[in-house]
Amino acid sequence: MIVLEQPEALRSWRKARTGSLGLVPTMGSLHAGHEALVQASLQQNDHTVVSIFVNPLQFNETQDFDSYPRPLQEDEDRLRRLGTSVLYRPKPAAMYPEGFETTVQAGPGGGGFEGEFRPGHFDGMLTVVLKLLLQSGADRAYFGEKDAQQLYLVRRLVEDFHVDCEIVACPTQREADGLAMSSRNVHLNPEDRVRSTALFQALSAARVLFQKGERRPQALEQAMQAVYRQAGLQAEYAAVVDDRTFQKPAGESSGNWRAVTAVRVGSTRLIDNLRLDAGD
Ligand code: PAJ
Repeated sequence: MIVLEQPEALRSWRKARTGSLGLVPTMGSLHAGHEALVQASLQQNDHTVVSIFVNPLQFNETQDFDSYPRPLQEDEDRLRRLGTSVLYRPKPAAMYPEGFETTVQAGPGGGGFEGEFRPGHFDGMLTVVLKLLLQSGADRAYFGEKDAQQLYLVRRLVEDFHVDCEIVACPTQREADGLAMSSRNVHLNPEDRVRSTALFQALSAARVLFQKGERRPQALEQAMQAVYRQAGLQAEYAAVVDDRTFQKPAGESSGNWRAVTAVRVGSTRLIDNLRLDAGD
């Protein structure tokens, strides 16, 4: 595995190689969720680039940016063990050199949910993802369903900007009790770790109701809220969306509904989601 830090270095590395390239964009502090993306890329491509960049542009709280875990050596060792071709680890000054001023603006699908509670987050995320896609020239890029709204917006980005890259979605990896793996889980104290299972329980409650035939979004949302009340938590949002628009469902078709939620457990903000019509 080689480690590159400059956009130009990544570009010339790519130009010197034939065969397909998979890109796995991350912010590091790697866990089994990231590993699943890397494994998928390794299986489907001749080369795999994993980027680690804690993107200042997508953080709306300085404290969250400062406290974001950065176990550099551990991440590097893990990627080497997996068989990654390139670890791309640019510094902020390489990504955002002096004079930088152009950004991507998320459309209406980025307005609600995460977009409402983290203003500017998606514009920053889309800007860095577009940079990474262009710098690497990847044929495929891998994203987790864990961040379903992000995945939706990245799919829109490549379509809207005619980026020649296939976006591959990977299922959410969970702990045994259902908690979605996340780099932020390390901030949970033991008591909050127990309470954090409420997210998956709330989403599962909505799915059980849906599978029994309930099609009123409000009733599905109330089932989620009931789980949170019991756990003594208050959701930032607990909603049903149409996966094709990331808006509240309009009309009858329920084949693409997804329950989405965000909750602060102690000082840690957690998000999760679940397709209502699937069994995973
Ligand atoms: P990060 O949170 O590090 O996540 C990197 C990728 O791993 C994302 O596609 C995310 O959806 C996926 N991922 C995280 N937890 C997962 C889990 N439990 N199961 C499956 N996949 C999971 O998302 C970002 O970084 C950034 O916004 C980024 C896309 C890198 C742009 O800065």
